[in-house]
Amino acid sequence: MTLSPQRPAHRLALRGDLLDFIADPGWGPPQPGPGAHPGLRWRPDHWLFVEDGRIVGAQPAAAGAPGPDWRCVDHSGHLLLPGFIDTHVHSPQIDVIASYGTELLDWLNTYTFPAEQRFADPAVAEAGARTFVDALLHHGITAAVVFPTVHAVSVEQLFAAAEARGMRLVAGKVLMDRHAPAALSDGDVAGTEAISRALIGRWHGRGRLAYAVTVRFAVTSTPQQLAMAGRLMHEIPGLYMQTHVAENRDEVAWVAELFPEARSYLDVYHRAGLLGPRAVLAHGIWLDDTDRRLLADTGAQIAHSPSSNLFLGSGLLDWPALEAAGARVSMATDVGGGTTLSFQRTLSDAYKIQALRGVRLTAWKALYTATRGAAEALQLAGEIGSFDVGCCADVAVWHWAAGPVASHRDALARELHERVFAWITLADERNLETVYVAGQQR
Ligand code: GUN
Ligand code: ZN
Repeated sequence: MTLSPQRPAHRLALRGDLLDFIADPGWGPPQPGPGAHPGLRWRPDHWLFVEDGRIVGAQPAAAGAPGPDWRCVDHSGHLLLPGFIDTHVHSPQIDVIASYGTELLDWLNTYTFPAEQRFADPAVAEAGARTFVDALLHHGITAAVVFPTVHAVSVEQLFAAAEARGMRLVAGKVLMDRHAPAALSDGDVAGTEAISRALIGRWHGRGRLAYAVTVRFAVTSTPQQLAMAGRLMHEIPGLYMQTHVAENRDEVAWVAELFPEARSYLDVYHRAGLLGPRAVLAHGIWLDDTDRRLLADTGAQIAHSPSSNLFLGSGLLDWPALEAAGARVSMATDVGGGTTLSFQRTLSDAYKIQALRGVRLTAWKALYTATRGAAEALQLAGEIGSFDVGCCADVAVWHWAAGPVASHRDALARELHERVFAWITLADERNLETVYVAGQQR
């Protein structure tokens, strides 16, 4: 690694066990020995070098300590991972996380819509945004694709809170102009378009922020509103699109009634021009092969939300079928349908869903999907998701074990996959030592 003494660099060196991915480790059993597993990059007891918030290199700690112009933080004995990337989560819904109920449509009416109405109040929106982004960091999540509410103030406050913490965040005003309470319903399409364009102008591409055209789901948008969303996607470069698709069987049936001309639920979005490489669609449980190929052809991704799918009783995602068709899959908490912001618990739920389907999810595939895989799906692999040189230093520092059972299990692990799999299964946010966002400790 070369140093550049003429630069007034902010130089930081973090020591610990570095684990990240250089490629998709794929399905199939873990290979013996970390070096043998494709995609995995395991660098135990290394220094990770950060300059001006970006990763510039790494070296084994045994090769010596960094020079005096590096601020060194010794996390040896800890696991250093790229910050998790939550590709689908609702900021106002930490107010309703863990609500007892039935399935999706009742859950929305009973808990979610009433909670989201409170975000019309700027004070609620401001406090809610702060609480939410701090909660993300508290769980080692340093980047997220987020639904706020229909209220412009909720978008403003969310972006402002993320910007203040230097986080990578993708979000946008939720669009709903039918089948929602009056207090959450957009007015005419022209007015909603003007509000959206103003928010895009203010926030899209500012620092680490990007705007997502945010169609809640096909049920709550008129065809005219969907067409407006498609226009924005067509006209403004670099926008993301986020929505829900094929989550719940009653929802799928309702969409079929509302859009009889569409071949499928996914086709509703395709017809509106909403599918593309920056489209993030949560769930995708009740898709068919044609839908999966459409995702692959357009580059759109499914944000798999295992905790939510189990909690709301939505169904078991056929993840391998999506990838076999060439579609991308990222990982999401979907709080508050999901019951946790912990990625360990989320990945553990993903493991259990695949186990019920007769498929085994390795620790490598799980962690890849939560980091580099999500970054690649979002077209942000140059910035987040790995310890590649040039990436932002979004780093989570984890205890390998917390509590007597996990410590006991950790000590007995014979090889790396066994150790990391047990960590995913037994750890949660209480294992987090600290988190760095673009090299700043938060
Ligand atoms: N479909 C439409 N809105 C929502 C939501 O808020 N959560 C989930 N899980 N699904 C949805
Ligand atoms: Zn959701």
